[in-house]
Amino acid sequence: MWRFFPQKNKYVQEEAEFTFDRNKAVPKHIAIIMDGNGRWAQNRRLPRVAGHKEGMETVKTITKHASRLGVKVLTLYAFSTENWKRPEEEVSFLMQLPVDFFDKFVPELIKENVKVHVMGYTEFLPAHTQDAVKRAIEQTKDNTGMVLNFALNYGSRAEIVTAFKDIYAEFKENDASKEDITEEVISNHLMTGFLPAELQNPELLIRTSGEERISNFLLWQIAYSEFFFTDALWPDFNGELLEMAIATFQNRDRRFGGLKK
Ligand code: FPP
Repeated sequence: MWRFFPQKNKYVQEEAEFTFDRNKAVPKHIAIIMDGNGRWAQNRRLPRVAGHKEGMETVKTITKHASRLGVKVLTLYAFSTENWKRPEEEVSFLMQLPVDFFDKFVPELIKENVKVHVMGYTEFLPAHTQDAVKRAIEQTKDNTGMVLNFALNYGSRAEIVTAFKDIYAEFKENDASKEDITEEVISNHLMTGFLPAELQNPELLIRTSGEERISNFLLWQIAYSEFFFTDALWPDFNGELLEMAIATFQNRDRRFGGLKK
């Protein structure tokens, strides 16, 4: 296994704990917290935004790789509701990224049969970002393969509050009783509710850059997800590391609170 040591800025090869097995199931839904762009740039004495630009290249690589491995949904945390606190220059760079990404990459997404979706409070994004997103969704709407789901201006607690408000309004309108509130009702009102039930919850959550936090990402949906943390910074993440994460998943014993069979 290649482990990345940010302080030394180098990878050290250790023996892989598990090997990826093409005959074993691949997680249907993978979610990724793409972290470490800033450190990647700083390690090279480049401005932080250079890390985001390189991170965008990793998004392309991982999208194609995941799609070819048979993943059904890939959810990427691209901008959180907390990221507005960053310097204005960095925020505007991040808001331009989807425009560049979709302008150049949509033809390949179409070739790969990948369908774009965006979840988050997109109404607060600048008009050019919203337009790029809408165009990409429209251009890929007939694709039937992997869903590439960007979390853009997304925050999980806000998502849960919105879901509760929507449920309250609907229940009032339909005279529904509190007994009608079920896990399914809540799940379907979250931003992953557009997916069929069996795909709403990621089976595998990956976070890069050595941080081991959830950072307000998919709090309800990751109740039974397997976690994979790697020291690799997002711009250094690659297909080999994705397969390593999947190999780890394939070797976990998922019991969902039950006993080992
Ligand atoms: C976290 O790294 C990364 C982000 C907040 C932005 C993620 C965005 C991309 C990877 C590009 C997305 C591409 C598209 C198409 C939307 P950080 O800046 O927090 O890194 P640091 O922790 O090292 O400072």
